[in-house]
Formats: sequence, C-alpha cells, structure tokens
Amino acid sequence: MVTRKIKNDVYEVGAIDWDRTLFDELIPLPDGTSYNSYFIKGSEKNALIDTVDPKKTEKLLENLEELKVKHIDYVISNHAEQDHSGSIPKILELYPDAKVVTNEKCKNLEKDLLLIDDGKFITVSDGETLSLGNKTLEFIFTPWVHWPETMSTYLVEDKILFTCDFFGSHIASSSLLVTNEAKTIEDAKRYYAEIMMPFRPSIRSNLKKLEKLRIDFIAPSHGQVYNHPNFIINAYKEWVSEDVKNKVIIPYVSMHGSTEKIVGYLVDALINRGISVRPFNVITTDIGELAMSLVDAATMIVASPTVLAGLHPMAAYVISFANAIRPKVKFTSFIGSFGWGGKSIDQFKSLTTNLKAELLEPILVKGYPKTNDFKSFDKLADEILKKHHECEFVK
Ligand code: FEO
Repeated sequence: MVTRKIKNDVYEVGAIDWDRTLFDELIPLPDGTSYNSYFIKGSEKNALIDTVDPKKTEKLLENLEELKVKHIDYVISNHAEQDHSGSIPKILELYPDAKVVTNEKCKNLEKDLLLIDDGKFITVSDGETLSLGNKTLEFIFTPWVHWPETMSTYLVEDKILFTCDFFGSHIASSSLLVTNEAKTIEDAKRYYAEIMMPFRPSIRSNLKKLEKLRIDFIAPSHGQVYNHPNFIINAYKEWVSEDVKNKVIIPYVSMHGSTEKIVGYLVDALINRGISVRPFNVITTDIGELAMSLVDAATMIVASPTVLAGLHPMAAYVISFANAIRPKVKFTSFIGSFGWGGKSIDQFKSLTTNLKAELLEPILVKGYPKTNDFKSFDKLADEILKKHHECEFVK
C-alpha cells in the first residue's frame, strides 16, 4: 500500500505500474508508468480525482482502505479514457453515495465505455466550482489534451492543478514529486511526442487559459507531481511553438545494404554542413525515441527499399506513425532504392497528408548506389542547408 501526501488532506492514492512495457499496444514504456488518483478530504465532503487502470483497481482500493476512507461524495473524472476512468464502476459499487462529477462530453463517453447510469453523474460547465467545505474545486475545460472531453481540476486553496494526461509522463517512480528535472523533461517529452503532439493548437489555447491561475503544484495522472511547475509549462510552450531546430531525422529500412549506404552518405553530408542529424533503423528502434526526435526537427527524410513494387511495409508503418503524431517538421523527403520500378514515392506522398511540410525532391537509386547517385545526395544536403537557412522557424 502506498499513499503519498501532497498537502494537508490531499493524497495520491493511485497505482504505480512498474512492469507495463507498452501503451495502446503501440508505445514502448521503458520506465513503466503510473495511474495517479488523488483523494481530497474536505471539512464537509470528500472527492477522488480520477481513478486507475482497471488492472490496478485493487491497489486503489487498498490505498483508500489504508487512509480509512469510509465515504466518497464525488469522483471527479477529468478524462474518460479507461486508464483513468476504468475503476469508476467499482468505486461506485463500493461507495454507493458517490456521484461522478464531469462535463457533458465525458459523461456521454463514460456511459458508452463504462456503462455507468446517467443518474450517477453531476455535470459541470467550464469554470464552475464545487465546495468540499474548506476546500474548493474549480473545473477548467482543457479540450484535446488527448481526447475532446479532457478537463483539469484546480484545488483553489492549495493551488494544485490536477491535469490528468496534460503534462503527464510515463514513469514509474517511488518519488511522487519530481526529483530530477532533466530526466523528467525527457520522460515528459516522450509522452508529449506520442500523446499530445497531434493537438498542438489546442494545447496552445489551453496553456493560455491556465495563465490566470497561480499554480504551486501540477498533479498529472501519469508520472510525477511538479512542485516547480514553471519548467514543464515552459517546456510545453517551446514544444507547441512553431520553432524547430536545424535537425534532420531519417527513419530508414534496408534489406540488402543499398538504402543503408545512401542513408550513411546523406548523414555524413549533413554533418559536414553543420546540420544535426539522427538516423533511426526502423527495425530496431524504439518508436518513442523517434517520436521524441521529431518534436523539434526541421526535416524528416524517410528511406526505404522497394518491396513488391512499393514501400517496405515497415517504412509504411513508420510513415503512418509520423503522419498520425503530426510533428511540426517544415520539410520532408523520400529516398531509397529500387530494382525495376515501383510506386514508393506516390505512397510516401499519400501517407503524409497530415504533415504541413514542403516536399524536397525525392531520390531513388537503381541497385547499389554509384558515384553519380552520391552527387544527388550532396545536392539534397545542400538543398536542406539552404532551406533551413531561409526558414524563419529554424532556430
Ligand atoms: Fe492516460 Fe488519455 O489517458
């Protein structure tokens, strides 16, 4: 049992998932994760903010028992996704007087996903407050910090902002508070890249909305609690801005060495021009590392051999992944090799429609690259250098 105190009568009672290695059956979790749930004891009413993944319900119940919680008046649900809402039905069963407090959209999702009766909900609007006696909760709608219904809850007297996925990080740690800001930024950046990056415009508006609050703690529902929240707010401001770095990311697949050879050549050509570059062998790479690298890269170039007249399926996978997480890259291109023909370039174009990036001239070499082919990659490196110099967002 682990209950961790943030302030008087405010406890974290959720579960640390040390062993989880994959999220959404897609994202590797090198450091596990946590599902934070917060219990607030007011002078008149008690509230539980978010619950835990259904696999960890027992842990939440043990922690509530350790705190001798006999009564829960409100379950505040900031987000309907099951890693936070999935234990609500069990809480409602064990604490039958409890009501789920959330917004209309979240209510409707939870009725669909968790089969909770309509009568169990109290719906709130943006800016509404709820008194627990000596403590007050204010609900702040922060849509699209993952799903359309996401909101944050501000504990006014203690200046704690409970943000659910927003500002979260996938890390299992015995320390609730951030102890190593440099490590936390890396964890939070990985999380941002995979979960938040597609929603940059919404996050920008939500960050503005939070400016009116005085915040002593940001308490997300994954990872550690920030007791110096400015560093994560400032990191988010940088990540959601249009600014990118003089950096090229090259995810690649190679079967017989031709594509690997041209990637190696291009990497050296970019280094020689003072451009930061990072190739990722898609077959062995951690897709989360790739996502992190794309957070602030100016350019992404995908490299693939031709397989059955098109992209190598693993290249198609990584292109689809990049297209889904929508990095703010300003330039893209496609390079690769072929034996007798194919439609790789057309496929690349059709799979990258979410990326608002200029396509630099793709290059395909026939067979193993030869002297003339290498000249094309020198030209591509020159073009990238020129584009980066001219682009107002490359810092
Ligand atoms: Fe941690 Fe969108 O759920």
